[in-house]
Amino acid sequence: MKTNVLILVSALIARTAAIAATPDAPPPAVISFESQVTNPAGSQAPGDQYVFFGANAKPDEQEGDNPAMNLVNLRDFSVSAPIPDRGRLIPANPKSPECARVMAPGGASVTTGILWSHWGKDNDYADLATFRIVNPAVTSFAIWVLDSTLKLASNCNAAVAFRVNGGAPVAAHPTVQTASSNEFTKFTVTGASISDVFTVVVRNSSKGSFRSLAGLTFSVIPNPAMAGKKFPSICQEGWNDLNKNGRKDGYEDPAQPVEKRVENLLKQMTQEEKLGQLNQLVLGGESERDPDLFPLMRRGEVGSYIWGRGVPAIRNQFQRIAVQESRLGIPIVFGMDIIHGASTLFPASLGLSCSFDPGLFERAQTVAARETRAEGVEWVFAPMCDLARDPRWGRVVETCGEDPYLSSLCNAAQVKGFQGSNPAAPDRVAACLKHYVGYSAVTGGRDYNDAEITEWTLRNAHLPSFHAAVQAGALTIMSSFNSIGEIPAVADRHTLTEILRDEWKFGGFVVSDWSAVEYLIEWGYAKDKADAARLAINAGNDMDMRSEAYANLAKEVREGRVSQTTVDEAVRRVLRVKFQLGLFERPYVDELSYKSAQKQPQDLALARECVTKSAVLLKNTGILPLSQELKKVALIGPVGDDHREILGCWGGRCSWSETTLAKALKDALPKDATLTVVKGCSINTTPSMKTLQDGRIVPDDNALPIDVDLKLDDAVLAAKNSDVVIMAVGEPKGLTGENGSRAFLTLTGRQQALFDAVAATGKPVVTLVFSGRPLTLPEVWDKSAAVFYAWQPGSEAGNGLADLLVGKVAPSARLSMSVPRNVGQVPLFYNHVNTGRPRSGQYRDMTSTDAKFWFGYGLTYTTFEYSAVRIVPAANGKPAEAAVTISNTGKREGDEVPQLYIGQLVCHAGARPRQELRGFKHVKLQPGEKAAVSFPLTGEVLGYIDCAGNTRVDAGEYNIWIAPSAHQGTPMKFEFVR
Ligand code: NOJ
Repeated sequence: MKTNVLILVSALIARTAAIAATPDAPPPAVISFESQVTNPAGSQAPGDQYVFFGANAKPDEQEGDNPAMNLVNLRDFSVSAPIPDRGRLIPANPKSPECARVMAPGGASVTTGILWSHWGKDNDYADLATFRIVNPAVTSFAIWVLDSTLKLASNCNAAVAFRVNGGAPVAAHPTVQTASSNEFTKFTVTGASISDVFTVVVRNSSKGSFRSLAGLTFSVIPNPAMAGKKFPSICQEGWNDLNKNGRKDGYEDPAQPVEKRVENLLKQMTQEEKLGQLNQLVLGGESERDPDLFPLMRRGEVGSYIWGRGVPAIRNQFQRIAVQESRLGIPIVFGMDIIHGASTLFPASLGLSCSFDPGLFERAQTVAARETRAEGVEWVFAPMCDLARDPRWGRVVETCGEDPYLSSLCNAAQVKGFQGSNPAAPDRVAACLKHYVGYSAVTGGRDYNDAEITEWTLRNAHLPSFHAAVQAGALTIMSSFNSIGEIPAVADRHTLTEILRDEWKFGGFVVSDWSAVEYLIEWGYAKDKADAARLAINAGNDMDMRSEAYANLAKEVREGRVSQTTVDEAVRRVLRVKFQLGLFERPYVDELSYKSAQKQPQDLALARECVTKSAVLLKNTGILPLSQELKKVALIGPVGDDHREILGCWGGRCSWSETTLAKALKDALPKDATLTVVKGCSINTTPSMKTLQDGRIVPDDNALPIDVDLKLDDAVLAAKNSDVVIMAVGEPKGLTGENGSRAFLTLTGRQQALFDAVAATGKPVVTLVFSGRPLTLPEVWDKSAAVFYAWQPGSEAGNGLADLLVGKVAPSARLSMSVPRNVGQVPLFYNHVNTGRPRSGQYRDMTSTDAKFWFGYGLTYTTFEYSAVRIVPAANGKPAEAAVTISNTGKREGDEVPQLYIGQLVCHAGARPRQELRGFKHVKLQPGEKAAVSFPLTGEVLGYIDCAGNTRVDAGEYNIWIAPSAHQGTPMKFEFVR
């Protein structure tokens, strides 16, 4: 079989080469194009055109499901890869990657590859390759498909066809002429436009299935309309002539201070160009084909794009229009949601914050910054500084938990990871703090809702994390969807200007959330887009994401409702960030080397470390770590062998993980142990229950029938035949994140029935919960022998969790969000106020209204004991300290996280929470080892923010805890004297 394939491949290479030498296909020329301003030599000769080419052959790997994202390097496709059931590209000559890369200047023909295809059914279509034009100069090209080789492969009949922009496969198309010969089908495409997506399709027109090979040859046909056209070169020695006037203007001079450059540029701008800088559009799919787009960019009326394709060549094409064809050449800033990784996915923030290790966030976001910037996105919409107080709200998964102190440290660390010390560096990006502010306080946990927040709560709960991240240097902030009291946040001058600018002196810019400016109309707060734009910019919202409302500001200024100073100040802020990002010096990204910045081995090692430090061990009767003597392990549940759910709610570039828990566990278990993997049921049977008008909950007719979805017999059999069961259950990632509010915090679909049946076998069950929020799982807590809360762990979920299960690494994570017993209790967070009747007012129909697991809780494979808290009085200029001695009383080395909580007993400015986290440490102790751990009791540790924004610390009595979690340990009274 192998020999046959080789023969076919060689035959095909020979044929393809022959085609490449046909008269209307001159030999490939040396390719040179402008990928960097710093490397423009000889670039873009008149009439040069090129296409990029890729395959949709690996829909689930690396590039995501979107075939348009696969317009990349064909070197990714390897001959030795297993035969897929779709077309697969093999470079025609693997030793000559340029052959596969396909960038052909005008008139050249390049043999691109050989398709290895497989059809399952009669008359089945297979998409062989998807490609599109990314150079606006190209409108025509030809492609040959060696259909004769299809017949060569077997005695079957196959026909090639062409699909344009996802339409039905056609043998001919208005823009596509087809000519067939014995050898090949040639498609000539004319009148194509940028972003048109072409797909070569092969149809099996014979009976039965077969496999085949086909070759593709490309030729770019010179476009007479473009003859002689040359993009102006802007590149000068050490600077870019962005306004193409042959002189080095102030704003073009990298040696000038940023503020001077901003002023110089601002002076040259028309009102339309200024408003253009405040206009952010969305690029991708249909919008890329918008005929108005290029003129808009040429006029300098687009300041930013939300863009997520991850293909630098496409991004550069758009940037080239803004930079080289607009009057002032102001680069566009490309922004995207990169929340917990781009190519390497780390645990989603709620999970990673359970590491109580801000340094880990910094390291993870350093990787994300490198991967992202290399792809041409220089601005990430992260970190999320919202507080997680209500698990019904789907976006808690994107937060760093319920505590303002922990959240502040984690978010400041993320800013450092993204921006580094120089955001202009080619591996750094600008951070965007979101959602400013109060988004997590939405009523009932319903996304996008109103939020009633007092000034006291705003100052002491919701704002600290934003403030810490601003102090860490964050360049941008996103205003939020919710209202704060009666005013929608995007139009709230108090938070956007009085606090952010006047108090905090924030110098970057504020971008609205998605259409939030326009949504002011829906709120009933603005009458039309002009009114909305006026309200938003006057409040301090600088850039408008997607509403296209700010163009109206020209008239608002003319008629005196908005001052020119307000507009100019907003433009200044946007330009400042663009200068700080180095965009005026390096508007383009390297199209060739970006792949090497992705998913390096050390990145995956870090992702694995993050998984081990995020999964919280909530229960362990002693079954963990798994014994080396185990012979039979069953892995049951829909996440056990899953490639997608484990990645998390913001999958970056990925929708498929290479490793699953099943695979990793197989590698980690003793060699002679067997692992039986049973899915049992799906994670989400869309949903299996529905709520009727009258509130009753009944089975949903649309759900998968129970006998189709639930395979209890297989699961029970596997459990009975095992020494231990590992259950991998949870909620689908699609029910978390934006618009992911839930009324029930249960396992989804039939997972509870699956769990109950497996637990009833009496075998010890270790449950791993995969979820973006705390779930209320009484049966799981009670009946499992051990429980790990795994959250949404990312690319290395399998390996990291296997490390924990077999004890290669001991768990060290602590809950950053309390786990309620029942959804009726939420919002429930540890740092609530004491109230006037702290022991009353609880739910009468619950025996305990405590959380099931409070903030800070988490076990490891050993045990620790804490001494009583000692207060060491202030002396010799040193502040007072609280100290404890911690002993490792177990049999293994372990990492303990002692936490300092304070509670002010009397505060006249307002009632403070009964306890607040103000410090934590990591202490590694050997069995029998003890360590003294202390925390200073300074004003900073004890203080709060009053309603005028002043930091205050009161003399008086405080409770002090040093404990393994909130609501554990005994407080010590301490008097703070000035
Ligand atoms: C809406 C989301 O709320 C926000 O978090 C995100 O950054 C923007 N869309 C852009 O995708």
